Amino acid sequence: MPMPESVTVGIEDIAFSTAGSVIDLSVIADAHGVPHDKFYVGIGQNQMSVAGPDEDPVTLAAAAVDEIKQRNDLTAVRTLLLATESGVDQSKSAGVFVHGLVGLHPNVRVLELKQACYSATGALMLARSLVTSDPSEKVLVVATDIAKYDIGSSGEPTQGAGAVAMLISTTPRILALDRPTGVYTDDVMDFWRPNHRKTALVDGKFSIEAYLRALSESWEDYSARGGRPYSELTTVCFHQPFTKMANKAHRHLAEINSSRQTGEEIATLLDPTQIYNRRIGNTYTASMYFSLISLLENSEKDLDGAHVGFFSYGSGSVGEFWSATIQPGYRNYISRENSVRKLDCRTEVGYLEYLDFHQHGLPENGSSAEVERKTSSGGFRLSGIDSDRRRYENFI
Ligand code: CAA
Repeated sequence: MPMPESVTVGIEDIAFSTAGSVIDLSVIADAHGVPHDKFYVGIGQNQMSVAGPDEDPVTLAAAAVDEIKQRNDLTAVRTLLLATESGVDQSKSAGVFVHGLVGLHPNVRVLELKQACYSATGALMLARSLVTSDPSEKVLVVATDIAKYDIGSSGEPTQGAGAVAMLISTTPRILALDRPTGVYTDDVMDFWRPNHRKTALVDGKFSIEAYLRALSESWEDYSARGGRPYSELTTVCFHQPFTKMANKAHRHLAEINSSRQTGEEIATLLDPTQIYNRRIGNTYTASMYFSLISLLENSEKDLDGAHVGFFSYGSGSVGEFWSATIQPGYRNYISRENSVRKLDCRTEVGYLEYLDFHQHGLPENGSSAEVERKTSSGGFRLSGIDSDRRRYENFI
């Protein structure tokens, strides 16, 4: 068995799911009485996925994990780490529901992780340690979220829904994680969601400042610990609450590194990392991983051997800057056609149906309810609740 320090660990396979419905941001702009370009251009979002009543972070995660299961032998998986901001129970991990729905074998440890939009990156780093300590094991990391803000709030156009599942192992066919990484934590109230709320609270402008501060500090830590120089990075996948945030962040990183890249050059560089995010919206923990899939499937350049930077930010706040090397032959394990089909087959909803979905809730007094079959598309649905027990069904 190789010494742990020499083990290469990374992403062997990656898959995503999103909600079955979608709304165009022109509809939200009309409701806010602002020009469509405030959202299309100003925040860089065209659409957002909308979860119907029978979709939740469990059904989204199950669909993404199931796709990984269809393509891989998962007998070496000993751990499933589920990262979410929008968990469905204060005690039971959403990952345990996913484990059952997808039919993973019982000798698996399952955990849910929380730190706003950051926790999937925390899960990935923990997965690396687990796989390094026993290279015969694989870990499933799944990031799943439904981003929800109040109707009429500044955050409303930055909602979305989706999940990304990744198989982490010592045979990384997609990308291999570099060492070191740079980390930063700062106790701030820029975005949070008290236990009694279904929608997040946010101090919008302050959250952008907090994001950029976490980026500089994480980058400084990454560099101080021997990370790659800025000039070696082909591009950077950022956490994208809205795609324009990535442009702000890249400009900031370029300035710190005295780069002369113009805003236009940065926009061209980032474009492939934003194509799916523009259509799905914010997916909190999954957002940066959607950006990675978007890059892999839409880059005109061959990325074999390219070094890519990643910046993960979770309000509250924790940031991590890390890098990875795209593996030669990665194109054999991704499918742009499959991804575009998932986005194109969403059902477009109008404002009233969107409001209806946004306001829908399960009973909170212990009574039972059936959930009508709506637009769930990934093969799993929330079918009801009985005495506070959520009930799911697999309709593949
Ligand atoms: N045409 C083109 N652009 C226009 C326009 C038009 N007609 N009208 C306005 N704009 C531009 C503005 O100039 C502005 O651009 P800059 O940011 O480059 O200055 C942009 O559109 C947005 O306009 P406002 O700043 O006026 O928008 P706002 O105040 O209504 O909302 C926001 C912006 C505060 C970011 C809001 O979307 C929000 O609260 N979002 C949620 C919080 C968030 O995502 N924060 C990001 C960091 S925190 C994080 O990353 C964690 C997470 O996932 C939540």
